[in-house]
Amino acid sequence: MRLVVVGSQWGDEGKGKVTDFLGQKADVVVRSQGGNNAGHTILIGEEKFALQTIPSGIFNPHIKNVLANGMVINPKEALKELDNLEARGINNYQLFISNRAHVIMPYHIMLDGGYEALKGANKIGTTKKGIGPCYADKVNRIGIRVGDLINEESFKEVLTNTLPIKNKELAMLGLPTLEFSDIYNEYKEYGKRLSKYVCDTSYLLYEEIEKNSNILFEGAQGSMLCLDHGSYPYVTSSSPTAASVPVNCGIAPKFIDHCVGICKAYTTRVGEGPFPTELHNELGDLIRERGHEYGTVTHRARRVGYLDLVVVNYAKRISGIDSLALMLFDVLTGIDELKVCIAYELDGKEIKTIPATLNEYAKCKPIYIDLKAWHSDISKIRKYEDLPIEAKDYIETIEKYTNIPVDIISVGPERTETIIRKDVFKK
Ligand code: GDP
Ligand code: IMO
Ligand code: MG
Repeated sequence: MRLVVVGSQWGDEGKGKVTDFLGQKADVVVRSQGGNNAGHTILIGEEKFALQTIPSGIFNPHIKNVLANGMVINPKEALKELDNLEARGINNYQLFISNRAHVIMPYHIMLDGGYEALKGANKIGTTKKGIGPCYADKVNRIGIRVGDLINEESFKEVLTNTLPIKNKELAMLGLPTLEFSDIYNEYKEYGKRLSKYVCDTSYLLYEEIEKNSNILFEGAQGSMLCLDHGSYPYVTSSSPTAASVPVNCGIAPKFIDHCVGICKAYTTRVGEGPFPTELHNELGDLIRERGHEYGTVTHRARRVGYLDLVVVNYAKRISGIDSLALMLFDVLTGIDELKVCIAYELDGKEIKTIPATLNEYAKCKPIYIDLKAWHSDISKIRKYEDLPIEAKDYIETIEKYTNIPVDIISVGPERTETIIRKDVFKK
């Protein structure tokens, strides 16, 4: 079976936990897009890991972990992540990196900061990892790919062609320019260290599909951060939708069998941009503290709001979500003013989709329904039937307004703190 995990909101929905959980049945775990802007937290027993570039299957020696062609990879940071994992005893793993993935270079990181500064009050609030400038170079056909990085001659050639262009861009933004020899000498060493992992991952995936392996595509970011369908321009620079998986992995669309949408029981967002259900009050602060809603990558306080089913329905339509995994459900225990947004009001009209323009989206007012709170601890519950009636009502309201079954309910960060209603990942 080939299963895609997608974030159905603005990222940080708990994709890492679900990927790790479902990954226990996976032969292959694939990251298809984005880079170290992602921060996927996994709790195994008492051990907490925060993965950024490396897929969440890395803890299981039997799993083939793939960084596919649609990713942008910072070799220095990826190696640091592997070193950190090895220092914590994770040294028996299988890793495969696409020779077609793009390389995040130091000038991308500088330009990310430079453009954010230039935008001033209109900044995106990026993670400043160089993601946007790296994808921009890919589209502009001046990117450096992993296959080039690991070949000294190719690397010399592409860097010779690219660096003068990037230095002009750096100078234009008033940033220091970079020396060819400094970058070349540093990055060719990273290429040497990474070369043992590099291959044609599209071919590898094709062979795994032929063998009928269980393949899990670990999403990164969320649908509302999609470059095409998200709250543009307050988005990332790639598409985190299920539709992007085939092109970002070099497999045919017909091989995707099932899509699980990961949905936080409320909504969070890091970075700037519209957020209709945002709570600017004590309740927002309470949820932030309870859910430890501080960014894994940048440690910024996440913006917090009520669950927005317009957003989830939009993600459903864009990605074809078959099942929902409802995450951080325990965080809502004891919250008396429970509300769920089911539509927006825009200029006096009720709408149920996301307007394309920022101006219109910023004007949308949420239309809520009220729900009853539950007060007993749900974190030890493992069977749906044992949940308090009000908690079941919350879940059934989501099912009613989205028409998607909530097949997984997460009641704590640890792997085992999970209620399974349906086995979504079968051979
Ligand atoms: P991702 O980017 O989608 O993988 O999500 P993050 O790891 O950035 O953020 C999710 C956070 O919620 C992490 O700190 C997880 O450990 C935590 N988490 C995941 N599921 C649950 C849950 O059911 N309950 C609680 N309390 N925390 C959870
Ligand atoms: P995971 O995989 C939450 C956000 C940034 C910013 C915008 C653009 O952990 O869910 P970028 O650095 O990508 O150019 O930033 O996108 N962003 C995320 N927000 N979770 C993520 O990943 C994110 N990846 C990018 O905060 O608003
Ligand atoms: Mg995250």
